Amino acid sequence: MSAQAEQKRLTAPDIRARKGGDPIVSLTAYHAHTARILDQYCDVILVGDSLGMVMHGLETTIPVTLDMMILQGLAVMRGSKRALVVVDMPFGSYEASKEQAFLSAARVMKETGCSAVKIEGGREMADTIALLTSRGIPVMGHIGLMPQSVHSLGGYRARGRDQVQADEIVADAEAVADAGAFALVVEGTIESVARTITQRVPIPTIGIGASPVCDGQVLVIDDVIGMFSDFTPKFVRRYAEIGQRIAEAASAYAADVRARRFPGPENLFGAGPAPLKRAK
Ligand code: KIV
Repeated sequence: MSAQAEQKRLTAPDIRARKGGDPIVSLTAYHAHTARILDQYCDVILVGDSLGMVMHGLETTIPVTLDMMILQGLAVMRGSKRALVVVDMPFGSYEASKEQAFLSAARVMKETGCSAVKIEGGREMADTIALLTSRGIPVMGHIGLMPQSVHSLGGYRARGRDQVQADEIVADAEAVADAGAFALVVEGTIESVARTITQRVPIPTIGIGASPVCDGQVLVIDDVIGMFSDFTPKFVRRYAEIGQRIAEAASAYAADVRARRFPGPENLFGAGPAPLKRAK
């Protein structure tokens, strides 16, 4: 059997065909072992540039580089078999020109083996998305609150509460869909805007902080599993308290080491055969 026949990985057209159907389930992942677990439950695994904040403790996604995305994209591809893996194009790797975007996206696809990239931006990115899709690179769009534009948007606030902004976001969604994106992340907006977009565009909308009217949902895995104790965004539901569990495990380990309870007899290598005595 060929390698292709063994693997039934979801494709961008499969996800595109889910418009108005069963909700699309998506989470971010950055490591092979997390990807292996999420692969059983997710249709789309997003290697988000949120890795800058989640893995590296950065304040924003802006310093994230193409090399960082490629390294983690490769790890996620190794860990997953079924989900469509989408890798984020980081800030500065695609905005200068369509050509820059193509070269960066081609590197991501060649070096990770992923099947699609995600690009933040609306009408201003339509030409770029059209070029990439016409050259064989499936693109997921990302509009609404765009974290790479945090400095020009003035913070991580929800967008589209006034009519002017709402109209802009809808126009962005339509431009990205017309340009050929196969799906669209809609981040940080009110339900009525998400509903208008979802009704107007022919591609699935995947919401994050954009209400249940979208065709699917995406969240950052570390938020979902409770890795951070200090802050949980309003749109996140925490399904586990793994950060707390890690602290408990580390604390129990530290206590055992200090009391010489670890390693125990079960952790020791057995003695091997006695060395032969040399004849005198
Ligand atoms: O980088 C990321 O994790 C994202 C999701 C939040 C959609 O873009």
